[in-house]
Amino acid sequence: MTASPTPVAPVPTAPGGLPLIGHAHLLIRTPLPFITSLREHGSVVRIRLGPTPAYVVTDPVLTRTVLVTEAAHFAKGGKIFDVLRGVFGEGLATVADGDAHLRNRRLMQPMFNKAHIATRRTAMIDQARSMVGAWEEDQALDVFSNMNDVTLAAFLVALFGTDFPANLQGEFTALMPPLMKESIRQTVLPSWVTRLPLPANRAHNRRIARLRAVIDQAIDHRSTRSASTPPANVHHPAEAAGCPHKDPTETEHEHAGLFDTLMAAEDQFTRRQLQDEAITLMNAAIETTATALAWTLYELTRHPDIEQRLRAELAAVCDGRPLCQEDLDKLPYARQVLQEAVRKYGPAWMVTRKATRDVDLGGHRIPRGADVVWSPYLHQNDPAHFPEPATFDPDRWAYGRAPSTRDSFFAFGDGRRKCIGENFAWVEMQIILATLLEAWPRLRLVSRPPRAETAITIKPDKLALAFGAS
Ligand code: HEM
Repeated sequence: MTASPTPVAPVPTAPGGLPLIGHAHLLIRTPLPFITSLREHGSVVRIRLGPTPAYVVTDPVLTRTVLVTEAAHFAKGGKIFDVLRGVFGEGLATVADGDAHLRNRRLMQPMFNKAHIATRRTAMIDQARSMVGAWEEDQALDVFSNMNDVTLAAFLVALFGTDFPANLQGEFTALMPPLMKESIRQTVLPSWVTRLPLPANRAHNRRIARLRAVIDQAIDHRSTRSASTPPANVHHPAEAAGCPHKDPTETEHEHAGLFDTLMAAEDQFTRRQLQDEAITLMNAAIETTATALAWTLYELTRHPDIEQRLRAELAAVCDGRPLCQEDLDKLPYARQVLQEAVRKYGPAWMVTRKATRDVDLGGHRIPRGADVVWSPYLHQNDPAHFPEPATFDPDRWAYGRAPSTRDSFFAFGDGRRKCIGENFAWVEMQIILATLLEAWPRLRLVSRPPRAETAITIKPDKLALAFGAS
């Protein structure tokens, strides 16, 4: 889009900016009210991240232009990805647009096709069932942290097979929250501050180095495992639990993982690239799904009718026996509930691109090299597209309803950089929600209602639930 059909107008600037830090204080203190307030000022609004200007797109039609129809003029990049590249390296989510991205995406796509993910569903069900089943009855549980543990464990069993070392899992769990918190802080600070030898910056660099070492050990472990022959006909708990039609390929490849696809393409990836991809996938997969699940559970405590409908769907499909992998395709209401949580709570709230040339967007001139921001949260809470956006209404997603909502639903992005893990995310979230409801007939909120806190995702600041067996 080199020329706009409408005359080029100046981009309005958001109020409240301060010298030196720009709008950083608003993005740190009141990020969600601030980002949604920008809609009032225009379809493209200028803010400043420190001294750097950024252009926030508030109209979903223009976001589609940025991500899909004119994607060549809006390259992957910008402040967030510059900071994340320091953690992820050149993994799929941070590598620049171009041949390397296309090639790696093509090599990784088979990892995440539906048929391949299906081979890992039983292992994920077993993992989730054993973890949620181990919770203590009627004890207050920090839901966000527990959901992170369960999504991480389910992801590891899917990616690296059934025998991932517990010590590596523990280290990863401890490293990630402070690493992500510091990364998001660095995003809104001037970059020279992040280079100073301050204790916070030094600790951040140490954690990155440790994360790389942990990932390297995980890859070594997987290399050793795939070199050995997978055991045939391993006894499977899901079978014992009464699943009628267990997929025989799962038994034969009990120890295999989705990551084996990349290891098999070893000649195409250096060890450093494998590390970058593993770190990227783990970061992209865990907090996103954990956040969505935590908010889902919170909404169930507020809507007993929705919880009952979910339980009724599960009971009708399972008919008295435990959940099996083939049941997952028969739970449409569970999918609607999860989709509504993903809609209402983002989970991503700020994603960036970089203009590759002077470009007109919706009649506004954006200069070459400028950061362009789009926000799934902003669009998915736009009353013009989702009436009464604060209402949690899974029936928005009922078959045949409101097709326009789909045009403003950018939770997984769009275009050539769209989330590669979307299918995986839905399967994993359905498994965890269903196994949790199966294990615990009762759940109740035992903390004050949570407030939304922004990191890479929008997460609950404090959320405790107690689970009851009767
Ligand atoms: C609720 C869960 C998830 C949400 C909301 C989500 C959201 C997103 C979004 C918005 C993007 C696009 C970013 C951009 O355009 O710059 C993205 C990209 C990506 N996601 Fe996800 N994601 C989720 C789960 C996952 C999972 C489970 C995985 C891995 C299994 C994953 C792996 C990735 C990767 C590798 C990319 C980069 C793709 C590329 O640039 O080619 N995500 N995700």
